[in-house]
Amino acid sequence: MVIVGAGPAGLTLANLLRRSGLNCVVLEKQSRSYVERRQRAGILDHHSASIFEEWGLADQVLAGAPSDTVIEIRVDGVPRYFDVPGLAGGKHSRLLPQQFVVQRLLDAYVDGGGDLRTDASDVTLHGIDGDRPVVTYRDAAGAERRVSCEYVAGCDGHHGVTRQSMPKDAFTTYSYDHGIGWITVLADAPAPRYPLFAVSQHGFAAQFPRGPRASRYYLQRPPSDAVTDWPDHRVWKQLRARLGDPDLPAGPITEKALVEMRSFVVDPMSYGRLHLVGDAAHIITPMGGKGMNLALADADALAKALVAALKDGDGAALRSYSATCLRRTWDYQEFSRWMQEMMHDAGDDTVTGPFRRELARARLDRLFTSPAAATLFATMMAGTN
Ligand code: APR
Repeated sequence: MVIVGAGPAGLTLANLLRRSGLNCVVLEKQSRSYVERRQRAGILDHHSASIFEEWGLADQVLAGAPSDTVIEIRVDGVPRYFDVPGLAGGKHSRLLPQQFVVQRLLDAYVDGGGDLRTDASDVTLHGIDGDRPVVTYRDAAGAERRVSCEYVAGCDGHHGVTRQSMPKDAFTTYSYDHGIGWITVLADAPAPRYPLFAVSQHGFAAQFPRGPRASRYYLQRPPSDAVTDWPDHRVWKQLRARLGDPDLPAGPITEKALVEMRSFVVDPMSYGRLHLVGDAAHIITPMGGKGMNLALADADALAKALVAALKDGDGAALRSYSATCLRRTWDYQEFSRWMQEMMHDAGDDTVTGPFRRELARARLDRLFTSPAAATLFATMMAGTN
């Protein structure tokens, strides 16, 4: 088995296969330290945490990660608290930045004797429509290498090469631009008490803890803005206005980046012996925090399907791998879009107008007045099977 890409998807799959006694080789284009430092997502939902528990990796991956409690939704400076795990029937998610997930999965895999080959360039797939695909690459020293295998897992993210190895007429892509922009800012500034979503006429903003002394912020921006349109003083001024907190403590900004609010889905996620996993098959906007969780759910589904095929001779789960994952992918795409409309339309009404603002505020209110609506929202936040 060859796994291309050592992000959350590839490393989860690699660990689950090793737990099952199946050998794999992980090929990663970047260095180990680069992969370990990349900061992106920050929440492992309940479903993802339960994957690591089920496979006996909870101690290695989840140790010390705080459970979620409530989220704050602040509308025009007025706080409202929403008990996500309580309303999801006690299903707790974990606050665990992606780089810790990756570091821990790398340690578990390499310490357990796993075969990780970093700095692998020119990864190319051959014969994925046959029984014995071959993957060629150039190693760190520049030498040509080849690995032959039974299956290839494409875990190389949205810009990877594995998806491009599928014939163009073998799949359909769905691509959608949500028509809004975000900028994300990481700062050494005190974490909020609870993950915070803020709605106001100034536009949407959010502040999430990244450990006790750091915060990640998201701010809605016009899609045409560049990072240079957001000097530090504008970031802090807008955050104070949007969070309704003139005393919001600032801190050194360590990262500032535009977030493209785009969705993308490939159907089917499999071709011959190649199966796509995570961002290689789908990207989702960050609202709702499902990107990394979708990647982990795919990895779990593929690991189980491969175990059934290779150890028990039962290929049914492998044949339905794509359908299984796409059902969840579309469910989460809808959830993310639903939440995004609610949080954006309820604020700056110059974009979608006053009628949509009132609809979005009704949707928000319903979370606090209808137990059924609250339970559905909390259940989606916790993640579904
Ligand atoms: N050859 C080998 N490795 C590659 C290649 C290639 N041609 N192209 C990309 N890679 C590697 C990248 O360097 C990266 O380490 O594949 C890995 C892909 O990792 P991610 O982009 O993190 O994708 P995934 O594992 O699916 O995780 C998806 O994590 O980063 C978040 O926003 C993302 O939340 C989403 C989730």
